[in-house]
Amino acid sequence: MNLNITCIPGDGIGPEIVREAKKVLDKVAEKFGHHITYTDILMGGASIDVHGVPLTEEAIATAKAADAVLMGSIGGDTSTSPWYKLAPNLRPEAGLLALRKALNLFANLRPAVLYDELAGACPLKEEISKAGFDMMIMRELTGGLYFGERKTVEENGVRKAIDTLTYDENEIRRIAIKGFDIAMKRKKKVTSVDKANVLDSSRLWRAVVNEVAKDYPEVTLEHMLVDNCAMQLVKDPAQFDVILTENMFGDILSDEASMVTGSIGMLASASLNDTKFGLYEPSHGSAPDIAGKDIANPIATVLSASMMLRYSFDLDKEADAIDQAVKKVLQDGYRTGDIMSEGCKQVGCTEMGDLLAERI
Ligand code: IPM
Ligand code: MG
Repeated sequence: MNLNITCIPGDGIGPEIVREAKKVLDKVAEKFGHHITYTDILMGGASIDVHGVPLTEEAIATAKAADAVLMGSIGGDTSTSPWYKLAPNLRPEAGLLALRKALNLFANLRPAVLYDELAGACPLKEEISKAGFDMMIMRELTGGLYFGERKTVEENGVRKAIDTLTYDENEIRRIAIKGFDIAMKRKKKVTSVDKANVLDSSRLWRAVVNEVAKDYPEVTLEHMLVDNCAMQLVKDPAQFDVILTENMFGDILSDEASMVTGSIGMLASASLNDTKFGLYEPSHGSAPDIAGKDIANPIATVLSASMMLRYSFDLDKEADAIDQAVKKVLQDGYRTGDIMSEGCKQVGCTEMGDLLAERI
């Protein structure tokens, strides 16, 4: 099979972790007889430095022409980087938001899994973590507060900022359908998270999710208020299978869920539209403090490449080979600094990539 992949190395540790993910993908291609073409584009700070904007029309066109996009990370230190002196629409993150919108990537999948081998890194009490957990956060990604009208005005000498939270039923329905579809392939439970005790957008969310649920009689649906969900994630994470939620709540809850795994350097994500196309990136950020030191953990990016093979190319065997290689490397006792524990062998980013590629 020919795989036409656009890569966005991006900023901070992005270039190193994407390089290692490509190493692993190349090994998969060699072993399973595929041919991969990579085309790099600039986004975020890397694009600002060259073009003065975080994403160019050409870069969007290149991404659109690909089968899938593999991304590292974008952005820098918000208090020291000159990128954050620019107008908000010219900062690194604006590039990512523009790409999500341009590619209509409305469904964001963020798995949060407690790896047996890394259970010791889980910050929860053992009586809670011993039940394990494996959840999928389904976050709506192209609507809500992120894309509503916003402005800052001054009225009678008082500065006032306005952000708008809008959802129409079609936006809610399409992410709900994806959520239920994914639940059917998992433990068949959906927890829809909203703030229906306060927000109209949440009341519509709940109504539409209830309608969609009628087509999935095998799936158990529950509704949970977002503040309660934030508590439940640390109190009893094992209760969750698919968490279905809007953009802003999903941003916050997915960081919380990844933190309770204790190993954010291990967590992949996929952003999908209505076709097979998707953008795949680690759940963590660009970690500018450790960039270029060859100590970053490439596993989340490698697992994102695995999600890419599975969701965009239907290459399940190949994706399994990557997931198995990750498990094997952990069982063999290799760790990057972020997941290091006593008795294990600490390795850098490049070496971790080599060890993974060897195990394909
Ligand atoms: C994420 C990030 C982005 C978001 C930022 C970088 C704009 O936090 O992917 O979760 O808020 O969506
Ligand atoms: Mg976030």
